[in-house]
Amino acid sequence: MSVTVRVPAKVNVQLGVGGLRADGFHDLANVFFAVALGDEVTATAGTGVTLSCSGPDAAVVPLDDSNLAARAARLLAAHHGIADPGVHLHIAKAIPVAGGMAGGSADGAAALVACDALWGLGTPLDTLLELAAELGSDVPFALVGGVALGRGRGEILEALPVGGTFHWVFAVADGGLSTPAVFRECDRLRDEAGTGFGDTDVATPDADPALLAALADGDVVALAGALANDLQPAALSLRPALADTLRAGTEAGALGALVSGSGPTCAFLAKDADAAAAVAAALRASGTCRAAHATYGPVPGAAVSARG
Ligand code: C5P
Repeated sequence: MSVTVRVPAKVNVQLGVGGLRADGFHDLANVFFAVALGDEVTATAGTGVTLSCSGPDAAVVPLDDSNLAARAARLLAAHHGIADPGVHLHIAKAIPVAGGMAGGSADGAAALVACDALWGLGTPLDTLLELAAELGSDVPFALVGGVALGRGRGEILEALPVGGTFHWVFAVADGGLSTPAVFRECDRLRDEAGTGFGDTDVATPDADPALLAALADGDVVALAGALANDLQPAALSLRPALADTLRAGTEAGALGALVSGSGPTCAFLAKDADAAAAVAAALRASGTCRAAHATYGPVPGAAVSARG
């Protein structure tokens, strides 16, 4: 028997970053947006928890217990008192690795759903969300999908209304960026600018009302104008060449451009599917990225797509 779960990548249409907390995290106003570009995780009965991976980036995906999919399987088993879990998880990887699109988090969420179905556990969504938050700040969103405001470190979610489909292009860079390193660089840049970086210096961020209205209205021009990522200066500081990628997409007609999450993937908002295809083709020809994918959203979160 096997269970396949499809899970979306995310882009942050707003990533407001507050000060550094005592626990090493930052308070966020994080507007997550789930896109159709996604991974598939297939769970089959096995001995112990084992992983395999396919796709263009398979060689750089860790197949040990540092992979969130393996940690998710073990966490779900432990929660149900299963001492000796048996599952093989195959990850069909399309989400860029260490790209700022929460690909590892997506696989963790998918593994929770896949193992829950394979083992016939029927775990309530609220419990899955708690386990997801233990795994990482972005994992709960991959369970729910759509568009949501994430507060706290990003794990406290509130679904947001969206009035239409938006068309995106993602430009994948060579190599990844470490999320902790990008947050550290954000703190360093704030310190250097003399504005302070602790949570007593930096105001707790809030969602931008203009951005929320643009989403609710399905207004792509307004959304493009409201895109904002407080981690972008840090990602550009660590990877200055990303400025060329952002410029290439904008010159090709994208309405809006920003670094996705902690980067280095760059995200472009296009007027419609045809414009997205044209921006993707121009980015591929520009030589400023390794690959470019046109996609759309919002789409639902991790869900069973096939059983064998
Ligand atoms: O929660 P997750 O394990 O995905 O976070 C990875 C790292 O990103 C954290 O260890 C921290 O350095 C940084 N982070 C942060 N503030 C957040 C989320 C993540 O500083 N809200």
